[in-house]
Amino acid sequence: MRTLIFTIFSGLLLLTSSYATAASGGVHLDAVEIDLDDKASLQRGAKTFVNYCLSCHQASFMRYNRMAKDIGLTDEQVTKNLMFASDKIGDTMTVAMRADDAKKWFGVTPPDLSVISRAKGTDWLYTYLRTFYLDDTKKATGTNNLTFKDVGMPHVLWQQQGYLRNDDESHGLISATKGDKSNHEYNVMIRDLTNFLAYIGEPSKIQRLAIAKWVLLYLVLFFLVAYPMKKAFWRDIH
Ligand code: HEC
Repeated sequence: MRTLIFTIFSGLLLLTSSYATAASGGVHLDAVEIDLDDKASLQRGAKTFVNYCLSCHQASFMRYNRMAKDIGLTDEQVTKNLMFASDKIGDTMTVAMRADDAKKWFGVTPPDLSVISRAKGTDWLYTYLRTFYLDDTKKATGTNNLTFKDVGMPHVLWQQQGYLRNDDESHGLISATKGDKSNHEYNVMIRDLTNFLAYIGEPSKIQRLAIAKWVLLYLVLFFLVAYPMKKAFWRDIH
């Protein structure tokens, strides 16, 4: 019996570890810290998402008014700063571009990003969005990606990051053209965006974490009442 349990357990371990490597395609992933309590970060991430991603990708599980409440913005702020004029506050985050047009332009339809953080993991996203590099053989976009080989998505944040190129000698990406942001600033921008993508992947997690605090507090208070009671009841029996 013990061997059986051991075999199943190590089999599971092996499965999960090989899955993790498969998801990254063997590329080293940089770790990113996710903090769903960091409202300022989520708000900055939402802004980047709306300005630079929503033109191609949608987040069709996410409603604007739900997002407003969760990340600490009013409906007015979201309507004014984060929405296209034709959208309503109760709408989901969809795009105007038609799927078949997108396919014509990019060869593939840009996937919905609602649950991408759960499908790929946040470290993967954080690394992916920082590892686009110049590649002449990619006729359509002029760029490739270390984390997602031959990706059909162009380097949409090139203005912020600048372009990188793959340096054969150091086997790493080095700067080819300067961007508006320093390396550090760009990393923060992508960290905020990844944080936001983690949030839309599991919006109720924010509520769960908030409720969890109250549940723990309740348990502590309950213990403070129940323990003296238990002592009182058992006093005569002992
Ligand atoms: C110009 C259109 C366009 C824009 C803008 C764009 N993407 Fe993409 N993206 C694509 C396409 C097309 C693909 C599919 C690539 C493929 O499968 O080769 C893709 C793929 C992805 C993937 C991989 C999805 C998967 O299933 O593996 C992620 C993650 C992603 N995009 C995130 C983003 C984020 C975040 C932004 C905003 C910073 C963004 N994209 C902006 C076109 C775009």
